[in-house]
Amino acid sequence: MKPVIKAFVFDAYGTLFDVHSVTKACDKWFPGKGKAISLSWRKKQLEYFFLRQLMGRYKPFDQITLSSLIYAVKEQGESLTPEQEQELLDAYKKLTAFHETEEVLKALHEKQTLVFSNGTPDMLNPLIDNAGFSPLFDGIVSVDEIKQYKPTPASYHLVLEKTGLKREEILFMSSNGWDITGAKSFGFHTAWINRNGLPAEELGFAPDKIYTDLNGILEWLD
Ligand code: LAC
Repeated sequence: MKPVIKAFVFDAYGTLFDVHSVTKACDKWFPGKGKAISLSWRKKQLEYFFLRQLMGRYKPFDQITLSSLIYAVKEQGESLTPEQEQELLDAYKKLTAFHETEEVLKALHEKQTLVFSNGTPDMLNPLIDNAGFSPLFDGIVSVDEIKQYKPTPASYHLVLEKTGLKREEILFMSSNGWDITGAKSFGFHTAWINRNGLPAEELGFAPDKIYTDLNGILEWLD
């Protein structure tokens, strides 16, 4: 029997928005090094919140995003002025949404839709607003409220507290293998948005569905 989904919950970075759309801003200050900086920036951003969660040393995602940017630039033998830091962090609030996102969100207008992200509210609110998506979401949930990063069970439990729904009434979407695994382990229905044709994670807790972009999730509409 097809599950009845009462809320469609979306990861933000990599799922709704292309984190590598900051490459252009990185190239502006460090010509020819933008792609390398962007790739290292995201890699370190993930590493840093994983490590901080394991160490029990939570810091908000905006601080982690700055620390990982500083590392990625240093790795290229470069350094950032305060102006460059601010401009690149601002670019994180104006990331490019993936091409299908707006149409898919509009198709879900009769359903509850949430953003659920490791980002801080000060990062997520302008990001969603700048993309014109604010009217398309019923809420934005940040782990910063409980200071426990995804993929901890406590972080996904926050979605239940915010919606008043049961795990099996939620469909969670993420492009990040670690995130979709954590959500499945927690008990959500899950759709992995495998935008880059990656192999499935070797962690068990396989996603319920795999799509190449968000269009596939519309088959979950009853
Ligand atoms: C998010 C990033 C970390 O939580 O994927 O939006």
